[in-house]
Amino acid sequence: MSMDWTPGSWRTKPIEQVPAYPDPLALAETEKRLSTFPPLVFAGEARKLMRALGEVAEGRAFLLQGGDCAESFAEHGADNIRDFFRAFLQMAVVLTFAASSPVVKVGRIAGQFAKPRSNPDETRDGQTLPSYRGDIINGIEFDEASRIPNPERQEMAYRQSAATLNLLRAFAQGGYANLENVHTWMLGFLADSPQAARYRQLADRISETMHFMRAIGINAESHPSLRETDFFTSHEALLLGYEEALTRVDSTSGDWYATSGHMIWIGDRTRQENNAHVEFCRGIRNPIGLKCGPSLEPDGLIRLIDKLNPDNIPGRLTLIARFGHEKVEAHLPKLIRAVQKEGRKVVWSCDPMHGNTITLNGYKTRPFDRILAEVQSFFDVHHAEGTHAGGIHVEMTGKDVTECTGGTRAVSAEDLSDRYHTHCDPRLNATQALELAFLVAELLKKDRESVPARKAVNF
Ligand code: PEP
Ligand code: CO
Repeated sequence: MSMDWTPGSWRTKPIEQVPAYPDPLALAETEKRLSTFPPLVFAGEARKLMRALGEVAEGRAFLLQGGDCAESFAEHGADNIRDFFRAFLQMAVVLTFAASSPVVKVGRIAGQFAKPRSNPDETRDGQTLPSYRGDIINGIEFDEASRIPNPERQEMAYRQSAATLNLLRAFAQGGYANLENVHTWMLGFLADSPQAARYRQLADRISETMHFMRAIGINAESHPSLRETDFFTSHEALLLGYEEALTRVDSTSGDWYATSGHMIWIGDRTRQENNAHVEFCRGIRNPIGLKCGPSLEPDGLIRLIDKLNPDNIPGRLTLIARFGHEKVEAHLPKLIRAVQKEGRKVVWSCDPMHGNTITLNGYKTRPFDRILAEVQSFFDVHHAEGTHAGGIHVEMTGKDVTECTGGTRAVSAEDLSDRYHTHCDPRLNATQALELAFLVAELLKKDRESVPARKAVNF
């Protein structure tokens, strides 16, 4: 890290997506208070995630990253967290089996509150108010009191993140993540799925493997790895005052870490190389994500990698491609080639959500077949380039919402109004999410069959 970096050096740089807080003093006081609060995660955990992602960068593991587009204060029940975790773990088991390699599990959760917006304002019936920027900044209701940015919300977001993380840690380590449980849930999904036949073969193989392991005495009682799992948190590092307040020196290494989550990422709208968000992220030692949209050119990407991962550490940088299903072919190969030519170690992940948003009947939605098409193209391109399709990044919930159209229990354009609950972008529901995992499993299996056996590792 260069000497001129400090947790606050971003403040001297140009910046996008800044909320207009009416009372800068109140904002400064909140940030000061936050800087005295305990960290949400600790540096050793971020380093563990970095090592796991390093294995993904080397082609020996797969990354599953997913969760809400935006968490909300209104939806902070235990059920929500549990149902998300359950759907997410089922996806992870399907992918682990198909890839025959570890799946690194990273939630968009316990801190995913701040949202970038295309327009700073929103007008309804002749009234113009600031756009909703996520519950950490303002309220979604369309009235002046809600929409004016309020710094107190940062403390609420911090406390909600702490409570969410606490429950997730209990689930991950306390027995809920038991492989037997996850397998039973998956069989429940299959019983209900009109496409069960397609997924049956993979599910049967998982069942057989479980029976075999039980028969030879490998079970959750004897093997902690069958009843516990590593689960990490992530969010977009958009609200830099909040991030700065939670940036701390790790006493073991003397390095700076963002302690608001294990991994943070830079959004597609805030990745300008000389601006504040890149400045902030270059100085912290957590694993970093970088959204790569259609406007990113190879030269610009290499300059960003120079800033964000100058020591070329595998696992430090995850490039999250989000082009849109028809644009992958035109954009991804040139970026991959530049990265390969320069010998940069990165994780390539596919976000098939953000380039595939359309409006139907007045609702923002994403057709499931376009989401699949983007993932398919992403795998095809990596296959052609001889590189590792390293992961997927999805917006999903464990609930039975109707926000994305399609899937085998098809959600139609008319159904969107039934259970459309998202605070921001449309998410896959639990069924669509698991179905996506089965389809990615088919791609991973093909990948595995065509690539020489990769060295097995433990991390
Ligand atoms: C997001 O991940 O919710 C998001 C806003 O993505 P992007 O920056 O890729 O548009
Ligand atoms: Co989103």
